[in-house]
Amino acid sequence: MFLNNFKIISKINKNRRHKKFICIFLILFLLLLLVIVLNACNSKKNSKYFYFDKYETFVYNNIKETLLKSKCSIMWNNQREFMNGIIRKFKPKKLLELGVMFGGSSIIILNAIRDIKNSHLYSIDIDNSPIVGSCVKQNFSYLADKWTLFKGNIAAKYMKYIGKNIDLAFVDTSHFEPGEILDFLLILPFLKEEAIIIFHDIDHQITKTKGKGMRYYWAPYIIFNLIRGKKFYPSGTGVLNKDIGAIKLEKNQKRFIHDYCRALGGHWEYFLSEEHISIIKSFFKKYYDDECLIILNEAISFNKDFVKNNRKKPFYSRFFKKNNGTDIKLKNKRLR
Ligand SMILES: C[S@@+](CC[C@H](N)C(=O)[O-])C[C@H]1O[C@@H](n2cnc3c(N)ncnc32)[C@H](O)[C@@H]1O
Repeated sequence: MFLNNFKIISKINKNRRHKKFICIFLILFLLLLLVIVLNACNSKKNSKYFYFDKYETFVYNNIKETLLKSKCSIMWNNQREFMNGIIRKFKPKKLLELGVMFGGSSIIILNAIRDIKNSHLYSIDIDNSPIVGSCVKQNFSYLADKWTLFKGNIAAKYMKYIGKNIDLAFVDTSHFEPGEILDFLLILPFLKEEAIIIFHDIDHQITKTKGKGMRYYWAPYIIFNLIRGKKFYPSGTGVLNKDIGAIKLEKNQKRFIHDYCRALGGHWEYFLSEEHISIIKSFFKKYYDDECLIILNEAISFNKDFVKNNRKKPFYSRFFKKNNGTDIKLKNKRLR
């Protein structure tokens, strides 16, 4: 009797031990599964190869046909999709564009923010000619209600009207030094912490003519690679043939400001007008420290003579032709 009881109790205990073991096993298995899923999500989030040119492309496709027919855009197709994808993913509200030309990139941006509530694009072009932004008005006027265009001067002149807290900036200006290096410094104090900044033509010295004609187009390449933050590129093979990239700025960019200012110290390919020098110096005095101001002054005095003896034509001059030396008219042929 006692022996029988003992056998039953030990059987019950054995069953309980089995159940306990199965429970522990199941919990461990679920935990492992959770870790795997979380890891997969995280690596997708952190991957620099999250392909924005595949993200909500249908939004860009709404305008693709009309845009291509209008020949307003000088970007590659995957670059247009990339820009559209970045905007659709991050849903910025306050956007800034430097370098407008016909307005091809403005159209892509305006189309991408169309359904983003309270969003607005501010665009700036140094050129005051009527062709700047003309494509928006002529072919996509229904997008213009979220657009403010400033033209005729550099960014520093207009930033006080545009104001701070910019979520996303797109920079596509002269490509020559000081070009985008200086333009970036003229907008940085107005960008939100961890803002997104997209640069076009970051590999232009290589992609366009395999280094020949574009040999001096270093400005976007230098500043894009120097800026601290998480970098994104479009899909496709190769690494140096993307020619467009985006950066999610690291927090507290002030830590790196002297590196950015020092990048002004290379050989400039064009020199600034007296008016622009004065605007830029006041801007630096207001937003940067003495060290940056000293670098700026040294770069200006060093490059004054250098530029005089080494003047180059800017990249976008291929698209314009001078009429009687003053009026700028659109060349017949638009590229890409
Ligand atoms: C390459 S085009 C821009 C093309 C345009 N983003 C697009 O994709 O359709 C360069 C433009 O930048 C302008 N630009 C050059 N330097 C500039 C500067 N420092 N600030 C603002 N605009 C500038 C030129 O007048 C020209 O229209």
